[in-house]
Amino acid sequence: MIETSGLSKYYTFGSGGRITALNDVSITISGGEFVSIVGPSGSGKSTLLNIIGCLDQPSTGDIYLDNARLDYGNAASLVQLRRHTIGFVFQAFNLISSMNAMENVAYPMYFNRVPKPQREKRSLELLESMGLGERALHLPSELSGGEQQRVAIARALVNNPRIILADEPTGNIDSKNGKKIIELMKQVNRDQGITFLVVTHDMKMAENASRVIKMVDGEIVD
Ligand SMILES: Nc1ncnc2c1ncn2[C@@H]1O[C@H](COP(=O)(O)OP(=O)(O)O)[C@@H](O)[C@H]1O
Ligand SMILES: [Mg+2]
Repeated sequence: MIETSGLSKYYTFGSGGRITALNDVSITISGGEFVSIVGPSGSGKSTLLNIIGCLDQPSTGDIYLDNARLDYGNAASLVQLRRHTIGFVFQAFNLISSMNAMENVAYPMYFNRVPKPQREKRSLELLESMGLGERALHLPSELSGGEQQRVAIARALVNNPRIILADEPTGNIDSKNGKKIIELMKQVNRDQGITFLVVTHDMKMAENASRVIKMVDGEIVD
C-alpha cells in the first residue's frame, strides 16, 4: 500500500554545501503491517516519515500510495491524502493548548465539514475507547504526557485514516505510559487493520513490530 522508489532528499546550506538526508530509499509496506523504523539520530528517519506523510517532498524519487504516484504538482490531492488517508502522531504530542481534549480530537473533522454534533460524538467515543472519557473537557496542560499522547492518537484516528505515521511517539513519555501507548497502537493495528509506520528508539516498540527497518546515514540497512 505504501511504496517508495529511489527516494532521496538533499538539503543545501551556505554556499553549495549539501547534506544527504535520504539516499535512494526504496521500501514497500503492505496494508495492515506494523513497521518500526530504527536508527541513530540524524539517519533520516523523520525525513522519510515526513515525505511519506506528504509533509515534505523528496528531491528525487517517487511515492506510491495504493499504486497511485503522489503528484507534487497537485496540491489539492496532497491535502486530501493528509485529511483522509494519513494520520500523524508526533513526539511532542502537538496538541492545541487552548483546546480541551475533545476539541483537539474533533479539530481535523472540521476541515472535512463534519457537522458539530457529529464531531463531538465521534471524539467522545474515541476518547472513551482510550480510557479518557473522564478527561474529555481537560486542557492538555491538565493531562499527563501519556494521556496527551492518547489524545493525539485519537486525533490521528478521527477521520478514519488507513495509515498512521508516528515519529518517536513514546520519546517524551515515561516507560510505563510508553508501554500503554505501544499497546494502544498495536490494538488499533490489530482491530482496525490500520497500517502503522513508527519511528522509535524504544526497544519495546521495535519488539512489538511485525517488521523493523533500520536506517543509517540516510539509507536502509537490512
Ligand atoms: N530542514 C533541514 N535543513 C537541513 N538539514 C536537515 C533538515 N532536516 C533534517 N536535516 C538533516 O538531515 C539529516 C536527517 O535528519 P532526520 O531525518 O531528522 O534524522 P532522524 O529523524 O533520523 O534523527 C540530518 O543530518 C539532519 O541534520
Ligand atoms: Mg527524527
